[in-house]
Amino acid sequence: MSTSNQPRFSEERLAEIDALVKRYPSAKSALMPVLYMAQQDFGYLSMETQEMVGEVLGLRIMEVREVVTFYTMFKEQPHGKYLLEVCTNASCMLNGADELYAHMKETLGIGPGEITEDGLFSIAEVECAGACAGAPVVQVNNMYYEKATASSMDELITKVRAGEAI
Ligand code: FES
Repeated sequence: MSTSNQPRFSEERLAEIDALVKRYPSAKSALMPVLYMAQQDFGYLSMETQEMVGEVLGLRIMEVREVVTFYTMFKEQPHGKYLLEVCTNASCMLNGADELYAHMKETLGIGPGEITEDGLFSIAEVECAGACAGAPVVQVNNMYYEKATASSMDELITKVRAGEAI
């Protein structure tokens, strides 16, 4: 049952979803792109948002949960406007990712799962980002920063805080 506090897609978004669903043999096939849209619109995938996605696509909540909980790119907790995901897997670790991760946590003054006071940043340690040749890799929202260094990440953080595009 719906309440006014529940997240709702905009009319424009619903039209976009409708057009997307028509491209597939079943609505379930559109689940991942629709989850991306929901994450973009609402910041993260709360249980209420997942329920709404299920309603829109005519799926059971477990069908939505199976996908959300399997793929690490879907976030179930709120995070800062910029989520800095530092890969610390083998190639990145051998190229200084542990030190980089420690430096970034200290610079931001937060640990994993926390948000900076200005609401701009969260940080997380992640498994292989699939860009090992560019190790160490930091993913910032949908962008990859390869051969990341403490100074390049400091620069990025400073730019964001100054309101500059990155
Ligand atoms: S180990 Fe970091 S991208 Fe593969």
